[in-house]
Amino acid sequence: MSSTTAADTIEVMEHDDTCPRIGGSKLTAEEKREIDREFAYYEDKGSVGLEALRLVQRHRGWISDETLYAISDYLGISPTQLESIATCYQMIFRQPVGQEVLFLCKSSSCWIMGCERLQHHLQQKLQIAPGETTSDGMFTLLETPCLGDCDKAPVMMVGEEMHRHLTEEKLDELILEKKSHNVDQSAD
Ligand code: FES
Repeated sequence: MSSTTAADTIEVMEHDDTCPRIGGSKLTAEEKREIDREFAYYEDKGSVGLEALRLVQRHRGWISDETLYAISDYLGISPTQLESIATCYQMIFRQPVGQEVLFLCKSSSCWIMGCERLQHHLQQKLQIAPGETTSDGMFTLLETPCLGDCDKAPVMMVGEEMHRHLTEEKLDELILEKKSHNVDQSAD
């Protein structure tokens, strides 16, 4: 099965501030409004970087170079500064990902509680390896260090939702639920 590699999602990418900017990725009025609301909570525009990346990613799915430049322009900080923020946080995607990103915890408590078995199950079910996206663009599977919910291991984060005490059956239900939710949304 063909799949799109997203393994570099959390790698540091080098960017040149003099790189020509490509048009068409200006921030929308809504994105600007959402970023503006954050200014109330921070001392200066530069400190809003991570929130701005998160907010814009919610609309666009991931942060392309052009989007990163648009945000850095709006905040008045250098693309390099914003890139260094983006690459520190694995939940900011610098490459396209699926509609649902599955962050499977691979740290010690989850490992003891069987995350390897769950990973194998997911790989079989979705026919992808960690860092890959299903050919229908619906799911990306990523491994992550501790998600801070060790007493409820094994744990997986899907978007911003935590799923705890996971079993193969719960994973099957979750995948089914996400598939039908995304199909319903695209039918609207
Ligand atoms: S080890 Fe998985 S949540 Fe902490």
